[in-house]
Order: sequence, then structure tokens, then C-alpha cells
Amino acid sequence: MAFSEKFLDELVDRNDIVDVVSGYVRLSKRSGANQFGLCPFHSEKTPSFSVNAEKQIYHCFGCGKGGGVINFIMDIENLGYRDAVAFLARRAGMTMPEEQSDGESKKRARMLSLNKDAARFFYEQLSTSEGRRAGEYMAKRRISPATAKNFGLGYAPDTWDSLEKAMRAKGYSDFELLDAGLVRRGKSGGFYDTFRNRLMFPVIDVRGNVIGFSGRILGDGEPKYMNSPETLVFNKSRNLFALNLAKKSKSGYIILSEGNIDVVSLHQAGFDSAVASLGTSLTPEQARLLSRYTNQVIIAYDNDGAGLKASQRAIGILEKLDVKVKVLRMTGAKDPDEFIKAKGPDAFRMLLEGSEDQVDYRLRTVTEKYDLSIDEQKVEFLKEATELVAHLPGAVERQVYAMRVAALAGLGADVVTQEVERRHKRLVRRAYREEERQQSRPERQAQPVEKELRYDDPVSATAEEGVIRLLYLDPELARRCSLPAAEDFTAPALQHIYSALRGRLDRGEAVSTAGLGEALSGPEMSLLVGILQKPEQLSRSEGTLQDYIKIIQEQKELREQKNAPPDFQAIIKLQREKGKRYEGNG
Ligand code: CTP
Ligand code: MN
Repeated sequence: MAFSEKFLDELVDRNDIVDVVSGYVRLSKRSGANQFGLCPFHSEKTPSFSVNAEKQIYHCFGCGKGGGVINFIMDIENLGYRDAVAFLARRAGMTMPEEQSDGESKKRARMLSLNKDAARFFYEQLSTSEGRRAGEYMAKRRISPATAKNFGLGYAPDTWDSLEKAMRAKGYSDFELLDAGLVRRGKSGGFYDTFRNRLMFPVIDVRGNVIGFSGRILGDGEPKYMNSPETLVFNKSRNLFALNLAKKSKSGYIILSEGNIDVVSLHQAGFDSAVASLGTSLTPEQARLLSRYTNQVIIAYDNDGAGLKASQRAIGILEKLDVKVKVLRMTGAKDPDEFIKAKGPDAFRMLLEGSEDQVDYRLRTVTEKYDLSIDEQKVEFLKEATELVAHLPGAVERQVYAMRVAALAGLGADVVTQEVERRHKRLVRRAYREEERQQSRPERQAQPVEKELRYDDPVSATAEEGVIRLLYLDPELARRCSLPAAEDFTAPALQHIYSALRGRLDRGEAVSTAGLGEALSGPEMSLLVGILQKPEQLSRSEGTLQDYIKIIQEQKELREQKNAPPDFQAIIKLQREKGKRYEGNG
């Protein structure tokens, strides 16, 4: 255990979940101990995200996410367990206890220090005679020495073992280099440098750690880029190139581009808030990370089909996080780097100031798809454009854009507005019905939201859930009653939760989401909290526990007799009866 019970208790005490969540979500509706708001983890129109002040947990009835205050910070701030604990400690003005550095954190620290040393090595190579090749290449790309220094760019020599030798001399082993992705293993078992004869871009996270590298070939050739593999410290989909620099920008927005070279070139031209998404199209994790530093993103992707597609995806992802999105419209250049070189920083600044918002952008994309002088195409255009406008939540906005569509199609504003409103009403109705349906589907109630966790034997699993819920709410039971064996649990996730719970009880530790937070995965924690949300009667908990154990046993026998199919009917009935019996006591 990395953190003491006492420390975690105090941490949770000093960070009331309602307070913490309120910093991110407006909690408006109240029902009993629950307060509701719009879920920050999926997009919805009616609030299904609940925070329970008594149990100090949150739970979304829509997407199933849930946990205690530490899990909430992990999810919303995109942090690991330790960092989330540190975050809350800071919030509450507590000092972090000295951590016993266990195996993994020691390994992480070693890898980060190795990466830093490797970055320094690559940088130093720029001033060697061989490194002049990289210098010449940078000169050709008009990257100044000051910019190279700012980004910590470097050169990986054209040899098989320069880095390996240098790092060995500093005391790192080949296996440490291998884990960090800096060397690879040859057929004969030897090790050789991963990056050779490349311009090196260190990837630095927001805390200033060198977490990985991108290496560009000097000139033409394949592969153009090589990147560090996933390691203990590097995950491409959760980091952005140059965010360490961009987060300090005072511009108020972040420029999202595709290429490392674009970013370097933008910074050099004075646009110090440019980042790139490390060769992937923007992921939800990257978007969430961005949203911590800005509420406006200007997309400056390549001016080609792929860039266009990637822009549209990024818009969708960012919109969900309430980030304002604008798309830059570059003409006469394929990317920001080329644009700045051809037309200069001032032209780029004008582009930034005039960059269109996403509705304009989408409307323009639709308009460009059709030839409006042909009637059939005009009809198709109207269908698509009115549907697009119908999705806008604001009535005034819809009116404005409906008028624009009408003008484009050469029609009266009234017809188009009517059509937009008709479609809008239909969308609202559909969304409403979908939410109703989602919330009343019986198998949904009996099954975890997360697909990988689906139960094979829902009847047994419901009873297993019951055991977990009782033990969590009334840990005393563990001393008074005999408990089922973990092996009898049919759902692997429930088995794992149960074992973790038992482990804590056996060691005399308190059960809490904070204490379990390290042992359980995110989906498991969400599952646990969902289970805790269901009603339970504690006044006769021993009897109920016996009932659950009996069901688990019976199901086990049934399965052994013949692999019985899941009895949905029974489980729905079981749930309904429980719900009735315990109504008001939950
Ligand atoms: N990329 C990659 N692997 C490749 C090609 C590209 O990981 N084989 C990633 C890199 O992070 C690169 C980004 O995708 O920065 C965009 O690719 P591209 O536009 O080809 O590279 P630029 O950095 O813009 O380089 P240049 O201006 O020299 O074309
Ligand atoms: Mn590019």
C-alpha cells in the first residue's frame, strides 16, 4: 500500500465530493441524497449524472461511470491514481506523505531519467561533425538554432550503437534501454539503436518529463517518422507534442496541427500555442487534456482530404467537452509550415483571426459537395444542410443559419426555416425516446454498461453484486457470517472486486472507494459504484446475505447439471421484487 489509511481518510474527508464535482459540473436537480447534473463523461441533454453526498460517490446512470472523489479526479483530469491523490492533497492543502517507492514507480523514475539523458545526448550530437547533417537539414527547413534549443531537438547519429554506448556509460542497462524503446533486439540477440540518422523531437509532458521521442528522417525516405513505442511512461493517445510549451501561452487558444514540423515552425513564427497530436487523429483523452488548458481550439490540419476528415472528427470530440472549435482555412499551402514560409506570419495571423467557427465550416463543406445549379443536387443539399442546422441547440442560431441556407439555395427563408424546425423537433423527440428506452431496458439494468464486463450468468451475478453491496455497506457481516468463496463468483470483474474487498476486510482495513481505488480498474470501480446505488435493506442483512449465497450456490449447481442459459425473466423479477420490498430504504 502506497498511502496510509489515515492519509486517505483525511484526504477524502477534506475533499467533499459535492464540492469537488461542483468545480466541473453544475449540479442542479436534487432527489434525496442525490444531486444531478449533466454528465461530463458523455454527452446528454437531461441530467443522469448523480453525486451522493452521504456515500461520497458519483454515478452516471447514462454511461455507467462512477467512483469516489479520487476516481472522479482521475477521470476528469486524466490522471493516474497517484497523481489524482496528489491533486486532491494540494487542493486540501495537505502535504503528500513520503511514498515508499515500489517497483513500478522506481522503474518509471529510471526511465524518465534515461529519456532525459538520451535527449541531452541527441542534443549534444548537433554540435559534432557528423551532427552537421542535421544542422544542414534544419537550416533547409528554416529551423533556427534558438528554436532547436527551445524544443530540445537533436540528432541521432547514423550508427548502430552510439546511444547504447553512451547510455551504458551512464549506468543504464540494455534492458532499461529496451524497455524505454531506445534500442531494439537483433536476431543474434544483440541490441541496436532504434533511432539512427534522424532529427529527434523529444516528447515532453506537461510536467516537463521527457516521455518519448519522434525521429524524422533527414530528407526523403521511409518511414518518414519513427516514434517511441508505448512504454511505462509513454502513451501516444494521451499526450500532445509541445503541450509543455503551449500551456504557457497567453493567447487564449490552442492551435492544433498535424505535424511536428508544423508545430516547430508555428512557435518559431510567434504562435506559441501550437501542439500536434503525435501522428494519431485527435483522441478523446488528448481532447480532455487540451480542455484543461484552453476553452478554444483552432484546428490547423493539413489542407487535404485526410486533414479534412480528421478536422471533422476532432470537432465532434472537442464539442462534447464544451471547447469552442474553429477551423483554419488555408489556401495555397498544404500545411501551416508551408503557409508561413510562403506568406509569412502576418498572413497566418490574419487567417487565425478570421478562422471560421465550426458551423460555418461544416456548412461550407456541405455546400462544396453539391452543384447547386442542378435541381436534384440542390434537393440533396437542402436535406443535408437543413439536417445540419437542425442539430443546433439555439433557436436564434438555427434561424440565422436557416436563412443562410435559404440564400445559398435561392429559396425563401420561410420554407427553409420551417423545414429546419420540423427536423429539429424530430431530433428532440428521438433523443428523448432513446433516453427513455435506454433507462428502461431490463437487461441494461441487470448488466454492466461496459461491454467487456457483461455477465454470462446474470442471475448469479446479481446475487454476487448483492454480496458485494452488503459487505461494502455493512462490513461487520464479514465477522458474523460465513462468506462465499471468491471462486464461486461467475463474473470475473465481480470476483476481482470481491477479492479486493475481502482482502481489505481480512487485513482489518476500512472499505472505501479511496482504499479500493488502487486495486480496481476504472470500469471495475464504475461497476462497484453502480452496484452500491441499487437499493439494499440492511436491517436484515444476514438473512439477505444467506439468500444471495443460496442463489449463487443454486446457480452453480444448475450450471454443473447443464450449462443453463441465463434466465432473464427470473433476474428481472428478482430485481423488481427487491426494488419494491426495499423502496424508500435505499
Ligand atoms: N507521422 C508518424 N509516422 C509517419 C508519418 C507521420 O508518426 N510515418 C506523424 C508525425 O508525428 C508527423 C505527423 O504524423 O509529425 C504528420 O505527418 P507529416 O505531415 O507527414 O509530417 P510533418 O511533421 O508535417 O513533416 P513535413 O513538414 O516534413 O512533411
Ligand atoms: Mn505535414
